[in-house]
Amino acid sequence: MKIAMMALLLVAAQTASAHQAHLENFTTKPILADLADLKALDIPVLAKEESVGVGYAVITPEMQQKIQERAHKVGKCGGFEDLTTEKNFAALDFNSMLSSLAEIKAKNDLYDRAPFAAVKLEKSEKIESAVNEVSEQNLREWVTWLSSYPNRFNRSKTPNVHVDDMKRRLQTLLASSTLPYEISLIDHNSTPQKSVRVRITGSTRPNEIVVLGGHLDSINQGWGGGQQAPGADDNASGSANLLEILRIISQKAQPERSVEFFWYAGEESGLLGSAEIAKTYKAEKRDVVAVLQLDMTSYPGAGEFVIGNMTDFTSKWLHEYLRAVNETYLHARIVDDQCGYGCSDHASWFRQGYATLMPFEATMRADNPHIHTAKDVINDKTNFAHSAMYSKLGVVFAMDLANSTARQPY
Ligand code: BES
Ligand code: ZN
Repeated sequence: MKIAMMALLLVAAQTASAHQAHLENFTTKPILADLADLKALDIPVLAKEESVGVGYAVITPEMQQKIQERAHKVGKCGGFEDLTTEKNFAALDFNSMLSSLAEIKAKNDLYDRAPFAAVKLEKSEKIESAVNEVSEQNLREWVTWLSSYPNRFNRSKTPNVHVDDMKRRLQTLLASSTLPYEISLIDHNSTPQKSVRVRITGSTRPNEIVVLGGHLDSINQGWGGGQQAPGADDNASGSANLLEILRIISQKAQPERSVEFFWYAGEESGLLGSAEIAKTYKAEKRDVVAVLQLDMTSYPGAGEFVIGNMTDFTSKWLHEYLRAVNETYLHARIVDDQCGYGCSDHASWFRQGYATLMPFEATMRADNPHIHTAKDVINDKTNFAHSAMYSKLGVVFAMDLANSTARQPY
């Protein structure tokens, strides 16, 4: 009986009208979540992909609470991805979404068996001296500025005040650069908030793109909510890292590949900006070679200079690249960990088949406890030396990867 019911539910879940019905019934919510969590909590899984450990379920508020409690216990943040934030939710095809994820993962796994040499990096003096230009003081100033807005929430009445200010800062920052660059605000369908992009055109292979990004928005999900969402760590820190990388490389020689910086909109409401951008890039067949995601870098919860390397929704080739960069330039400790769900914008790119990397401030369990509250401000735990390490990594990304022919070897 139970199995028959499940089968019925599965069929129902596959039809657009059923999705619509769920949408109209505001008490339930369609989500993607960690398969193990759903199973542990006895939540009916309507579609699933074992190989990526992701399940689709329609949850009641009670189930949502159970997931959140469990996520909290194991140190995850939200613990699931709310699909109602997808504007074209009714048209989503979950089975094909899950199986394309599985295909991407299978390709990624091929890497383990590929017969080529491990990633190696020769130390370059130019890169090393650029790495040494990263300034903790600049990071502090940028985080202070970004966390001074009441919030950077994509559903606020004025979602673009800080975005427009960012554009002006970028114009000032790049005024003295002789590189060919373009600053753009990107409009979205799923949110009135805009993403920001700086594109530096490559000299010899401009169609090959190295992406460095992080989300600029913030959210308050604390009890009672409220308007205050300073988001100093989540994610003024990563946003500041990107500004610092750009400041440094904008004064260097033009890279062979194009380098694109993104400050994404609406990440906290479901990866909105990055999902649209990655889909557009895929549709336009853009050759994005690698994507670095910087989201939370200033709270060293697992120890100073310990990097949590998120191994889900990311590329094995870039995990190895990170280890090579670390040995040559950073000398940090890397601990592999997992978000367990698409926890940030790298997942948007990964879903479109691009190679991604997500080096995180700590392990998942040891992350900043104040994120998504009014207390995510610069405090005595904020560590700009730790955060600087992520800018250094980005400088290598922009100066080494964007001047090489390396790519994920499928
Ligand atoms: N920076 C967080 C992601 C994060 C938090 C990673 C804690 C590792 C530890 C990000 O801004 C975020 O909050 N993501 C959402 C998911 C998204 C799909 C709305 C989350 O984790 O709930
Ligand atoms: Zn967040």
